[in-house]
Amino acid sequence: MRTRSVEDQLTKYLTDVHSIERQALAQLEVAPDVAGDAQLAAAFRDHLEETREQERLVRDQLSRRGTDPSTLKDLAGTVGGWAMIAFARLNPDTPGKLTTLAYSYENMELSAYELLARVAARAGDDAVVETARRIAGQEAAMAARLSDSFDGAVEASLREKQAGDIRSELVSYLRDAHAIEAQALQLLEAGPALAGFEELAQAFRDHLEETREQQALVAERLQAHDSKPSRLQDAGLRIGALNLGAFFGAQPDTPIKLSGFAFAFEHLEIAAYELLRRVAERAQDSASAAVAERIIGEERRAAQRIAATWDGAVETVLGRLTAAAA
Ligand SMILES: [Fe+2]
Ligand SMILES: [Fe+2]
Ligand SMILES: [Fe+2]
Repeated sequence: MRTRSVEDQLTKYLTDVHSIERQALAQLEVAPDVAGDAQLAAAFRDHLEETREQERLVRDQLSRRGTDPSTLKDLAGTVGGWAMIAFARLNPDTPGKLTTLAYSYENMELSAYELLARVAARAGDDAVVETARRIAGQEAAMAARLSDSFDGAVEASLREKQAGDIRSELVSYLRDAHAIEAQALQLLEAGPALAGFEELAQAFRDHLEETREQQALVAERLQAHDSKPSRLQDAGLRIGALNLGAFFGAQPDTPIKLSGFAFAFEHLEIAAYELLRRVAERAQDSASAAVAERIIGEERRAAQRIAATWDGAVETVLGRLTAAAA
């Protein structure tokens, strides 16, 4: 059933992805300078060109649907906030962190376009479906290029370190991982009540169990290096239950936002552990490398499971909107 509210929602998601692209442009303009690796820098430069085109394609769809692009709001209050709330506190000051953030961001874009395509299909807007699918393919390709750059990013991050520093670098990656799991725990504890449909709620519950164990495994590895988690860092990454509730709660389209965000978050974790595994190998700590390997598999399965809920998320949200309009 096509209703005004579904049409409005589709236009709203187009303005959301438009603001995601504007934020991407700002990030991609500085990324090559931080990359520290020629292949990585080139990937960012190529994607900057691609992103300019994406911004234009989305703007065209907005005009076609009767939105004057000059009235588009700035980033605040839109899906751009997905990234800000979670990633703003991870400063991309090293090639490793930059790659982690960028990988997660591309997967956030991928999820946003996958969800947009589904909403557009339900609204019967084939031109938006086609645009969303095309851009989703480009975001997936960029994510794959970043994934191919994990070796180069670690290389660039460690280039200036002495052999003895690699151990302290590993400890710093382990502490980062512990802080990211602290953030994951918050998201997964609040998630089931916010999800809005059982399939996503259950995916959160199951991954919560795994996440507790992951954090304990990382803490054990820190202990093996006579270190421990940084309380300050764990607290610094905390979104806060209140913020989570305020950001994701009490809106008809929470299931869509939350399932997209959770997918991006799993990819933040995947990238963090891909880098951690490589640093552990360099430090000849095979136990930490094995822990990372195991957790990467769990994060990948969690991401796939969340992606499998996207049809249900769109169903839930559009069902709410048509019910409200009836
Ligand atoms: Fe993009
Ligand atoms: Fe992108
Ligand atoms: Fe995790």
